[in-house]
Amino acid sequence: MGDGPHAVILAAGQGKRMRSALPKVLHPLGGRPLILYAVDAVRAATGSAPVVVIPRGDSAVRDLLGDVATCVEQESALGTGDALRSVPEALRDRGPVLVTHGDAPLIRAETFQRVLDAHASSPRACTLLLGVPADPSGKGRVIRDADGHVLSIVEEADLPPGEPVPMECNAGVYVFDGAQLWPALDRLGSANAQGEYYLTDVVALLTGPVEGVIASDPDEVLGINDRRQLAAAEAVLRRRTVEALMLAGVTFEDPATTYVDAQVVVGRDSVIRAMTSLHGATRLGAECEIGPMAVLTDVRAGDRVVVGPAHLEQCELGDDVRVGSYCRVRPNTVLASGVELGTHAEVKHSTVGAGTRISHFSCVLDSDVGEAVNIGAGTVTCNYDGEAKHRTTIEDRVFVGTNTTLVAPVRLGEGSYVGAGSFVDHDVPAGALAVGRSRQHNIEGWAARRPPQP
Ligand code: UD1
Ligand code: CA
Repeated sequence: MGDGPHAVILAAGQGKRMRSALPKVLHPLGGRPLILYAVDAVRAATGSAPVVVIPRGDSAVRDLLGDVATCVEQESALGTGDALRSVPEALRDRGPVLVTHGDAPLIRAETFQRVLDAHASSPRACTLLLGVPADPSGKGRVIRDADGHVLSIVEEADLPPGEPVPMECNAGVYVFDGAQLWPALDRLGSANAQGEYYLTDVVALLTGPVEGVIASDPDEVLGINDRRQLAAAEAVLRRRTVEALMLAGVTFEDPATTYVDAQVVVGRDSVIRAMTSLHGATRLGAECEIGPMAVLTDVRAGDRVVVGPAHLEQCELGDDVRVGSYCRVRPNTVLASGVELGTHAEVKHSTVGAGTRISHFSCVLDSDVGEAVNIGAGTVTCNYDGEAKHRTTIEDRVFVGTNTTLVAPVRLGEGSYVGAGSFVDHDVPAGALAVGRSRQHNIEGWAARRPPQP
């Protein structure tokens, strides 16, 4: 990427406080691994791919980042200062260097930009992002001199007992003068409460002013060290996402009970009803009505789609599709425009043509269904014979009567009819009527001859 200011994201810590087998920066936030937020925001602010410091031998973070960042390894987690020292000579820029943490996903690109701009506005050794969060526990505190310049950052565990605790906290975002930074890192010691090489100690080793920029939004300073903070960050991110969608013309009946991942797109004049979750890469068109209590994951939908309390996953819906209550639409399903699913219908790995109706309690699995088909209530495609899955083909304008069993592989030809309650395990020619059931016969006078009931 371009040749903007260099940036380094520290992400090689052990994340012990998460108590997790998964690296901290890979925990999902707003539906994606949380390190991606720092990477995206830094790229947007600098116009270049950042260097990301990852633990030695890690492949999960490296694979996730691919070529959006240059990964370098820290030998062992000896502290944030040591992490920055792991950046090899060839990647050490002498100009301004932006440093941030992989566990700080709420800092916006504009905020990184503000810190970079402030740094460029007058000669200085370093510019820091500071904040006054509601809960400052665990944060480094900022000590200023009488003129307001930053003298040092003291970690909470190293604060002198009995003295007033400064309120301003270190957000972990720094712009350093590269010419001073790299030599200063070699002078870091580890004589502190945690026995680590603190990046924060570099501040006091620099020559020239160190200035602070106050975060305009205190939430930005919330880092993620444990799962309480993960949940807090999730709430902040979700609120940002929903507010942005509301400003773009989407109605949320009850934002407090609506869970929307960060990358979800919803068209204008759509209405999202209470207790609905929109996850992953979900993209909905205009004038849709979703919920209440719908859960959509990776769903692409056109305009005017109506979904009741239903679960949909990895599927594509054309315009004007209607999905009734308690339906389940499973992966690899395409419902063309105007398709209607009744109540309690299930569709999986199937294509359904325009204007087709699949009624209540039907189960359409591994099927290719044409246009303007009517599938009566309770119809099931039997896709599995105990060994393999087979497909059912239902051509255009077929009428399938209620409670039909279709044993795959089977094909219903164009315009054919199937009588209600049929068992169909042979193909039906186009235009034919298939009746696959035993005939009803009535036994006259049976009730009168029935033995008396106790
Ligand atoms: C750090 C700051 C603190 C600041 C806070 C902001 C230090 C010493 N403290 O504390 O002043 O208020 O962030 O949220 O810098 N990391 C490595 N290698 C290591 C250790 C950490 O790459 O050896 C990475 C972590 O993956 C993490 C980041 O550096 O992304 C910060 O480390 P963490 O241990 O979370 O520091 P905090 O205790 O939050
Ligand atoms: Ca942290």
